[in-house]
Amino acid sequence: MSLLLLPLLLFSLLLLVSPQGTLAADHQPPPKPILTRMFKDPSTSLYTIPIKEGGAPLVLDLAGALIWSTCAPGHRTIPCNCGLCRVASRSPTATAGCAYTSSGGEPSSSTGTRHCTCTAYPCNPATGQCGRGDVTAVPLSANATDGKNPLFPVSFPAIGACAPDALLAALPSAAAGVAGLSRLPLSLPSQVASALRVARQFALCLPTSGGRSGAAIFGGGPFQLLAAPPVDVADGFFLDDPHPHRFLKSPRNGAYYVGITGIHVNNERVPLPPGVFDLHAGSGTGGVMLSTATPYTTLRPDIYRPLLEAFDAATSGVPRAPPVRPFEMCYQVSALSSTRLGFGVANIELLLDGGGSWLLAGNASLVQVNDKTVCFAFLEMGPATTVVPGSPAVIFGGFQMEDHLLMFDLEEASFGFRGPLPGIRTNCGNFDFSMGTS
Ligand SMILES: *[C@@H]1O[C@H](CO)[C@@H](O)[C@H](O)[C@H]1NC(C)=O
Ligand SMILES: *[C@@H]1O[C@H](CO)[C@@H](O)[C@H](O)[C@H]1NC(C)=O
Repeated sequence: MSLLLLPLLLFSLLLLVSPQGTLAADHQPPPKPILTRMFKDPSTSLYTIPIKEGGAPLVLDLAGALIWSTCAPGHRTIPCNCGLCRVASRSPTATAGCAYTSSGGEPSSSTGTRHCTCTAYPCNPATGQCGRGDVTAVPLSANATDGKNPLFPVSFPAIGACAPDALLAALPSAAAGVAGLSRLPLSLPSQVASALRVARQFALCLPTSGGRSGAAIFGGGPFQLLAAPPVDVADGFFLDDPHPHRFLKSPRNGAYYVGITGIHVNNERVPLPPGVFDLHAGSGTGGVMLSTATPYTTLRPDIYRPLLEAFDAATSGVPRAPPVRPFEMCYQVSALSSTRLGFGVANIELLLDGGGSWLLAGNASLVQVNDKTVCFAFLEMGPATTVVPGSPAVIFGGFQMEDHLLMFDLEEASFGFRGPLPGIRTNCGNFDFSMGTS
């Protein structure tokens, strides 16, 4: 008999002998997605979720393969010669020339037994550094949700990697590690789906700076925000079939890439050579990658320069301010009007493959850096700014995704978004976290 069938058989035996028999199975609560709050760390501009049991925050890494954190001595390990270990120790970053820090994850205290322990290669998305650590079980907890309120607490273990303390460099000071949200099998959304028997789907609503918290739901929709009246901002995405936008995949990582055909500034096409946004299927270079670990959208120089020039021309009437690093072009706040979508300036639109566009209005194109100054919130890719293996053409960063609902369906390889949410008179801080009734 195969090893896999054994637990199944034992389970059915248990059902048979237990007095309630199949009744017990019927009374299991139906699978529900889980909900967590999300915070933006003011000093690193990274987003965290308090999903580890006990509430220690993990940094969101949309492109990350693994869940990882520092581990206590004596943590559980798994043997190196099992199928799970083959998946966990596969390291997309190892092939991408990632820099390794010292080895981490002290061996567990399971002395005497001379079995080999499984090792994984966690990476820090803010520095690009990677480390080595034992594969272990990470206890997670959150609330089940109906997409409107938290309903009841849920706890479950996930497979994660231990990491050396040094790998926490450049992360928020309270953070215990990273939650990878990639399309790969050991990411948080994939593990929530298998542990809780929910859909391999998730939605993120990244908060802006200024103290409001955002929200994330793993396992499917809806996603309701308070407004007058409350609105399901997921708008049927999780039920739609087929979805309008597919995400693209690179062989080098588990990140989500978006197909873009061009950029408009003030309704005029920015002159760019054809194919600049292409993701090369073989090498995994190029493409427009979504990243929650990159604070501001960063573009290859051949895209950044024409975009900057187009925006410069479209805002030629607005008085400038001296540039504030790392930004290159800044304006006097006092000269700008404000609208429901932030500062009144020329709109930037990313034209999406499959139709539609992603609007970057004043709140997404300009960032206020001090009382008097706002700056063009995009950066030019250079040796110092990119830590992402595989060299994307554009790394679409956190600031530009804030106050949007981002939705991913891993089964269908598709994504959707709704926003800017202030345009429909709500924002990512408007999830109702008061306890609901199931
Ligand atoms: C569940 O939701 C309640 C109400 O918002 C909150 O107090 C509690 O901390 C949440 N539990 C978890 C594990 O997130
Ligand atoms: C613009 O961003 C600021 C700071 O991030 C926020 O406080 C404000 O509510 C936003 N306004 C709109 C209209 O989105």
